[in-house]
Amino acid sequence: MTTRADYLALAEELAEHDRRYYVDAAPTISDVEYDRLLVRLRGLEAAHPDWIVEWSPTRRVAPAPVSSFPKVVRDTPMLSLDNTYDEDELRAFHDRVIKGLDGEAPGYVVEPKIDGFGIELTYKGGLLVLGATRGDGTIGEDVTANLRTVHGVALRLREPVDLIVRGEVYITKADFAAINAARAAAGEEPFKNPRNTAAGSIKQLDPREVARRPMKTILYEIVGGERLAKGHLDALALLHRLGLPVSEHNTQASDWDALRAAVEDWRDRRDALPYEVDGLVIKVDSFDQRAALGVTSKFPRWAIAYKFPARQVTTTVKELEINVGRTGAITPVAILEPVEVSGTTVSRVSLHNWDQVARLDLGDGDRVLIEKAGEIIPQVLGVTERAATPRWTAPASCPSCDSPLEREDGKVVLVCPNRLACPAQRHAAIEFFAGRGQMNIDGLGEKIIAQLLEAGMVQDVADLFDLTADGLAGLERFGETSARNLVAAIARAKEAATFSRLLAALGIAHVGGVVARPIAQRFGRLSALVAAADAQDGEAFVASLCELDGVGEVIARAVDRFCRDEHARAIVAKLIARDVDPEEPRVEVADGPLTGKTLVVTGTLSRPRAEVQAAIEAAGGKIAGSVSKKTHYLVAGADVGKTKLEAAAKHGVAVIDEVALAVLIRGEAPGVP
Ligand code: IVH
Repeated sequence: MTTRADYLALAEELAEHDRRYYVDAAPTISDVEYDRLLVRLRGLEAAHPDWIVEWSPTRRVAPAPVSSFPKVVRDTPMLSLDNTYDEDELRAFHDRVIKGLDGEAPGYVVEPKIDGFGIELTYKGGLLVLGATRGDGTIGEDVTANLRTVHGVALRLREPVDLIVRGEVYITKADFAAINAARAAAGEEPFKNPRNTAAGSIKQLDPREVARRPMKTILYEIVGGERLAKGHLDALALLHRLGLPVSEHNTQASDWDALRAAVEDWRDRRDALPYEVDGLVIKVDSFDQRAALGVTSKFPRWAIAYKFPARQVTTTVKELEINVGRTGAITPVAILEPVEVSGTTVSRVSLHNWDQVARLDLGDGDRVLIEKAGEIIPQVLGVTERAATPRWTAPASCPSCDSPLEREDGKVVLVCPNRLACPAQRHAAIEFFAGRGQMNIDGLGEKIIAQLLEAGMVQDVADLFDLTADGLAGLERFGETSARNLVAAIARAKEAATFSRLLAALGIAHVGGVVARPIAQRFGRLSALVAAADAQDGEAFVASLCELDGVGEVIARAVDRFCRDEHARAIVAKLIARDVDPEEPRVEVADGPLTGKTLVVTGTLSRPRAEVQAAIEAAGGKIAGSVSKKTHYLVAGADVGKTKLEAAAKHGVAVIDEVALAVLIRGEAPGVP
């Protein structure tokens, strides 16, 4: 018999595991054990809805959107911080503090200034009752439902206290990069920086959308903290005891030299933090001293921000480089006068597409402002000074083969239709074929490919298999050993290849590693695939491909086009003639709870996607690359793309999270349709 007390104990146990995971980053049980507890809790809640408590770990995400955010008026405004940009200004702050304390020595705490979104959490009797934005300081917005989805935000504190805390919601640099990678893969514009993304996410009306954004929080101030603690470090220790995340980086400094040294020290360490920081916050520790110093109408006199030098820099654009990609996409790249940004030298920056070139109105010799988005990918923010030079425009013909360019209907992308007859696409195709994740030919990099093409030793990927050590040894920069090594690497790659890897390496549009697998399973080898295409007309072939899991019409048409393309056919024939026609190992479909089910896995998960897919296959499930009417479940991790969700909605596919997947794999009552 389970009692309500058992239920509460279980909910508390899970909340404690959440804290260990999200607050202390020190979990004490495995994900599987956690999932098992969560499934039990869900089961109890389903059986006894009247037992459910608002702070239950199952109740972080509200099931429906809100129409607007009510205003919140606060008694103690959220002040901002006065800024300093150099040592002299910091020294002036220190002198003011000493003066304000009548010569008494202050103790400082130096901590990172997190470049996130300011929030305030209100707890009553230990329960989260309100989560609000900063707004203009006095009037903010009630975004409680959204902040509940942020895992470090405790729904219930370890003690039943009344408390108002302030802090920052942020997205780590790694999570931000993952979000943008997913957006790029889905053909969506990348987000500009983690701060705006966090702010935008918190202001979404649908908490379910918010929950998909991997946000974290760090809390740093207690309103009226002097009731509970004697100083800042003391208050942080209290917050941590109550189960809230606080920064572990708090350097103490008790005189000017120590303060200067602490600030200096952070200059090099800031990049090592997992989140972006735009400076440091220097705070007087003692609450008595803070009271003595007081506040102005805008800032506290007991704290100051020390801003790091800007990460936006200006430089001159030298020229426009027109890049021809593997699929023929023509992308504009600005070649820059090399300049240091956020620790690396930037000399080229992608402008993404020609609409962007038109928007920026760029030309040779312009001065531009650049920044690294998420401190990783450089971007042009705008032009600060225009040179008297012609403005850049989209080319009419391919810079490599001179073919007239085409614009795919409704898309911003310009393409060269000449495919493999275009030297630049040929280069890119060989580079892709040899690359990691495809044929993995060690040592066959961009420069060597250019050399081989230049020397006329290869025209296409099939020619790689004709290379001999003797032939290579005649080339510049090739010694006998390096020539032998490359030939051996190509032989190894040929040996190791499966049909699905080869198929993906050929770079057919939309056919990546996942899609290639059902096709490879069905046809067994490349020669059989083209033979099947020859044996029937296009429509019948497309229809037969569409029967495969994860293969929809767009993919099927791309495969059909490839099989009937003159250049592609010539390459395929050459590959087969060189015995590059590997067989696909047969996968016995495991028998398990997921037998007969097709799943698509997407978004950022708690473990590598390949692991999750392997677990599904081990349970008898099949993996598909895109959602179709043949899909049974879409397993959605954080930041799942809109396209996939829309496809799932269209085809009535159940969208489940990792926890529900774990339930399915164990073969327990699914709890989903
Ligand atoms: S203390 C009255 N500590 O910076 C002082 N603020 O420009 C309260 N911020 O609005 C702020 N990291 O959103 C404090 N460690 C930190 C911070 C921090 C980031 C933000 C905060 C504040 C803004 C001031």
